[in-house]
Amino acid sequence: MAIISSSLNESESSRPQKGLRIVGSENLPEDRENKQPLFNRPKNLAEFIGHDELKTSLKIAIDASLYRKECLEHVLFYGQPGLGKTTLALLIANEMNTTCKVTNASLLERPRDIVGLLLGLKQNEILFIDEIHRLNKLTQEILYSAMEDFRLDLTAGANKGTRSRTIYIKRFTLVGATTKLASISNPMRDRFGICQKIELYTSKDLQEIIFYYSAFLGIKIEKGAGTLLAKSSRGTPRIALRLLKRTRDFAQVIRNTNTISIEIVQSALNYQKIDDKGLDQTDRKYLDFLFRNNNSPMGLEAIAAALGEDSSMLEFVVEPYLLQLGFVLRTPRGRKLSSLGEKYFNELQKNI
Ligand SMILES: Nc1ncnc2c1ncn2[C@@H]1O[C@H](COP(=O)(O)OP(=O)(O)OP(=O)(O)O)[C@@H](O)[C@H]1O
Ligand SMILES: [Mg+2]
Repeated sequence: MAIISSSLNESESSRPQKGLRIVGSENLPEDRENKQPLFNRPKNLAEFIGHDELKTSLKIAIDASLYRKECLEHVLFYGQPGLGKTTLALLIANEMNTTCKVTNASLLERPRDIVGLLLGLKQNEILFIDEIHRLNKLTQEILYSAMEDFRLDLTAGANKGTRSRTIYIKRFTLVGATTKLASISNPMRDRFGICQKIELYTSKDLQEIIFYYSAFLGIKIEKGAGTLLAKSSRGTPRIALRLLKRTRDFAQVIRNTNTISIEIVQSALNYQKIDDKGLDQTDRKYLDFLFRNNNSPMGLEAIAAALGEDSSMLEFVVEPYLLQLGFVLRTPRGRKLSSLGEKYFNELQKNI
């Protein structure tokens, strides 16, 4: 049973919480100067590009809930940074014709933080908790009964003065997002009716994403240029968007044009030291280290220490794409370069 401070009462706890954003289609944030919406994420499943199977299964679950006039089951999205977890959470609220309260697990330090949030939820509302693997144990315990029975079991006071009470809350949908599924406890994971991994995107989907955003950014992009940008985006929409914006800067400032050609993309990528596979200097440093130690597989911590990088950054940002390219192998004894990775690295050396 969760323990909360005796000073907590319902009116206090339903005040707006620090760090909480409420997002609905009617109150999207704006750039005040330009009156341009900053919120350029896809707003419904039809606008969300790629991952057709995932979209179909979400659509079925959403339509079934709307048909039964019930709230959607709790949803957990996991996958690497920049693949669309937050975007999906927000668009689910639109698809369910409801609003979404957005918070981050690191802001839910005390039991009263989560209790206040839960008490303030409207019927069928979405509560989106980003980085849900960072929830502390007490907060998780409060969430268990809230997720399962829409009930809060609260204890106030201490020793002989302890009082318990149960409060029923409105039915809601918890959407959680994490890059670290393994750090979520089993009881928490089991309470999500829908648990979806978001995979890296294909080049074709990334190309579509690049065209979607180029229209939004008011620039023209030639087909070959879109293909090259897509191939350099490491399977990640956020990187595609970032490269597109940097290439737009390059085109407008250096070439004085609003049309992006293949040659402009090549020059902009060269300028950022990104190759046509999307590998940057950190990737090359990583590959170089494995190349020099290829007879003895290396542990993640040893690689991180040698490169002066954070091991979790290497594990969640650098390695997944190198593994997807087939350049790196994870063996029980450690990481090593594959023959494909060795070939790539040898080519790279020749071109320097
Ligand atoms: N399938 C998609 N179609 C169009 N745009 C997308 C898609 N997926 C992601 N994006 C865009 O990519 C950017 C990053 O997406 P988002 O913030 O949802 O990623 P995330 O998985 O929540 O990342 P993080 O783990 O870092 O929080 C956003 O601008 C989003 O609009
Ligand atoms: Mg996110």
